[in-house]
Amino acid sequence: MKRDLRYPLKIRAVWFDEDSKKVCWINTLKLPFQEEVYCSDDPGRVAKAIVDMEIRGAPAIGVAAALAVGAYSTRISGLPLGDFKERVEEAIDTLWRTRPTAYNLFYALKRLRRVLEEGVAGGVEPPVLSRRILEEALEVMWEDVESNIMIGEHGAELIPDGATILTHCNAGALATSAFGTAEAVMRVAWYKGKRIRVIATETRPMLQGARLTVWELVKEGIPVTLITDNMAGYVIRKGLVNAVIVGADRVTREGYVVNKIGTYMIALAAKRHGVPFYVAAPTSTIDLSSTVNDVVIEERNPWEVKHVLGRPITLEEADALNYAFDITDPDLVTAIITEKGVVYPPFRESLERIMGGR
Ligand code: MRU
Repeated sequence: MKRDLRYPLKIRAVWFDEDSKKVCWINTLKLPFQEEVYCSDDPGRVAKAIVDMEIRGAPAIGVAAALAVGAYSTRISGLPLGDFKERVEEAIDTLWRTRPTAYNLFYALKRLRRVLEEGVAGGVEPPVLSRRILEEALEVMWEDVESNIMIGEHGAELIPDGATILTHCNAGALATSAFGTAEAVMRVAWYKGKRIRVIATETRPMLQGARLTVWELVKEGIPVTLITDNMAGYVIRKGLVNAVIVGADRVTREGYVVNKIGTYMIALAAKRHGVPFYVAAPTSTIDLSSTVNDVVIEERNPWEVKHVLGRPITLEEADALNYAFDITDPDLVTAIITEKGVVYPPFRESLERIMGGR
């Protein structure tokens, strides 16, 4: 089932284990100190892994949810069709309710629900239908891998030799099935011999930049410098950054970019200082049906803000806000790098064109 990929698959956040027929993932909460792998065919367990952020990053969430449904369908394929349908629907609903912002989750689960519904309508028995569901889940995963490679190819063209790229959060292999989105651009530019450097923000409160982006780039041999989130404006102002590249959790039809909290401030600084601000995202992140007003910004437990790596940093009784994502206006975005090509403003038209009306 291996595809012919043009670059080595070095890090995988989520995959399907053919022997055990389970979805496996790296527990990203333990990185960079421990590489802990879990495997499961229990949708409840995978849902918990997504909520707790063992699995995180928009494409990785979508792929993990799809593979969880595929693995579970395989396990219960001996049930009568009515029971099978009910259980698979429950699994989809459980995974659907995990995190509200990343569109990839809903994109992937909608695809699986369609396969289930078509199979049930056609009277396809569970042993065959479960195989179809698993095949669709694997297709979601491989499409993500291939999209990331193409994002890398298109994006690398935009990066001059010697460029310093600032990125926020982790839009790397650990946020996808492989390669990443923003990190795919860095990887391909690096593989093609461009001498890039990366500045990674630490990304409070969950430290995806410090823990995950730095880990990935060090493994890759790409020079990376860690900064605190509040340094981004100054390093941009100082002229230390030639381009910003971030991922996205959702892109609306008008071109608003929903991404990790803090992205908006970086986009503002980039605009002010004439630094290009690129968003690398597969079309599975683009939601033409939603406008900026429909986007649900996840609010997580304030505990995450009041602790760093589990240790308290403030008074227990302190109030704290924990918005996980923010919204960047389309006029701050230079271009969106997708697997189908690079799209420029006005995004309403260019996104519709690239999505083929999807
Ligand atoms: O809360 P997270 O870690 O799931 O947020 C991740 C991000 O915001 C990423 O930038 C986004 O999902 C794109 S990943 C290719």
